[in-house]
Amino acid sequence: MRYALKAVLTGSTFLCFSAISHAANLEVTHWWTSGGEAAAVKVLADQFNKSGTDTWVDAAIAGSGNGARPVIVSRILGGNPMGATQLNHGRQAEELVQAGLMTDLTELAEKEGWATFVRPASLLESCTFEGKIYCVPLNIHSWQWMWTNPQAFRDAGVEPPKNLEEFIAAAPKLKEKGTVPLATGDTWQVSAIHTVLTAAVGGKDLYLKVNKDHDAEAARGPEMRKVWEAFAALRADADPGYVGRSWNEATAMVMTGKAGGQIMGDWAQGEFSLAGKVAGQDYDCLPGLGDKPLLEAGGDAIYFPKNKDPEVTKAQMRLASIILSKEAQVAFNLAKGSVPVRGDVDMNAANACMKKGIAILENPDNIIPSGDMLRAPDTQGQMEGLAAEFFADPNMTIEDAQERYAQIVEQAQ
Ligand code: GAL
Repeated sequence: MRYALKAVLTGSTFLCFSAISHAANLEVTHWWTSGGEAAAVKVLADQFNKSGTDTWVDAAIAGSGNGARPVIVSRILGGNPMGATQLNHGRQAEELVQAGLMTDLTELAEKEGWATFVRPASLLESCTFEGKIYCVPLNIHSWQWMWTNPQAFRDAGVEPPKNLEEFIAAAPKLKEKGTVPLATGDTWQVSAIHTVLTAAVGGKDLYLKVNKDHDAEAARGPEMRKVWEAFAALRADADPGYVGRSWNEATAMVMTGKAGGQIMGDWAQGEFSLAGKVAGQDYDCLPGLGDKPLLEAGGDAIYFPKNKDPEVTKAQMRLASIILSKEAQVAFNLAKGSVPVRGDVDMNAANACMKKGIAILENPDNIIPSGDMLRAPDTQGQMEGLAAEFFADPNMTIEDAQERYAQIVEQAQ
């Protein structure tokens, strides 16, 4: 009798326990597929797995953001949501949030006081819709960087460039040596160069006039023409093999000295550090392309599509909380080459390049909103198409390109 009673009690306890909670598998989609990116993801996944019973199910999607985002959005719209997903800070989840498909994080955000330590404020603003918070900022990435191989310039008999002008002036010497001046790759990379030049050559006012105010007169003006002239100069400095090249293959060209430089976001640092390269020695970095210390507070946020399983929702909240923990912010961002979204963490381990970026971002006047924050996906797509067409066709004139650009600016939402 006694044993029977005990068996019943144990059984009911087990049933009761299993009815109360079970560990969740949290499928996380992202496009971090390069060596450096994968190393950074592992840092976050390990932190999640070791601090609870849920499991991070990694669902990397190849093809960078342009390849992954359509897959992510269609899965959520199609009723087959992942547990969590990377998207960029900005407007990429706008329609999903408006459709009520994303988990509201406001209660957690208020309980943990996110607004008191996440900076700049634009990051949480990008997550906010009708006063509620739908994403957790993960990092700050900036596009406005040039990465160079100083030795490649010395081997060509020129000084390593300290700004864009010196880079363009040194390009013929690199070509004589058989070194590709500018390493770049597929469409979004080429288009981003144009967007980076708008700030680096045109300055903050012009960047905001065309990208935020949709000022077509500014887009047609002489200052914007200088941006197109710089873009045309760089068009001549890329190698024909850039078409279809992944961003990290272009970074590897700089790392190995096959190319002199690359205009790329600071996620490129993840590749250099994974290869054991030392910032300021094996490679150098020009934030704002050297002359204008303007950096965007772009980068990544994690969104959580609504899920029927309350255990998944609990796991979503746990991941959101871990992401903003001081420990995860330092460990993930050091591996990713990005800047933490909290200003109250110790980044002494940051390398010389990251320290340049952190110093620039500490002054709000140096921060510009990212293209992802300012442009609707449709506008972004049109600008990418035009930039890629211009870059691929040396016969396309600056006049033609600038007029078509002004029309896109004029119609931008
Ligand atoms: C960006 C993203 C970075 C990195 C980069 C290249 O959109 O913010 O984290 O993934 O794409 O893949």
